[in-house]
Amino acid sequence: MMKKIMILTVVMLLAGTTWAGDGSLKQIMQQLGKDYSSLNHAILLKDFDGAAQFAHAIANHDKPSMGQRLKLMGELGAEMSDFKKADGRVHDLAIKIEEAAKAKDMTLLIQRQSQLLSACMTCHASYRSRVVNLLK
Ligand code: HEC
Repeated sequence: MMKKIMILTVVMLLAGTTWAGDGSLKQIMQQLGKDYSSLNHAILLKDFDGAAQFAHAIANHDKPSMGQRLKLMGELGAEMSDFKKADGRVHDLAIKIEEAAKAKDMTLLIQRQSQLLSACMTCHASYRSRVVNLLK
């Protein structure tokens, strides 16, 4: 039974196109941090094009390598779905931010942007310290 689940998991992993890249999670996060700062700065400058561009980059951030993903799954187990949901929330918000920027709707843009940091930090609060040690 356990073996079957393992094999199924590996197959799902290999078939998964949405979550496989070759960078480390840390590198991806460092890029997210830069894009997040650039997004804020673009909003401060009322640069809607820049805001749309950086929100787009956040929504479409790279995926961690298969090796890192396997380590994550090994450590988080059933919590992996929660971890992915937290990533999904950031993704969805970033898309909404991009839309608001393209619509040049500053009120909506600020509202969504202020929700983004909470979405980042929710995952950090639950997982960051655990994963930092794991992926060292
Ligand atoms: C699904 C969970 C999750 C979400 C969502 C998330 N992070 Fe992270 N973040 C992590 C983890 C885990 C680490 C630790 C990675 C490591 O050190 O290996 C981290 C680390 C970081 C770091 C520190 C990198 C370093 O140099 O040590 C930054 C900066 C960062 N995240 C920015 C962001 C930003 C900005 C967002 C939102 C746009 C975000 N993160 C959303 C999980 C998440």
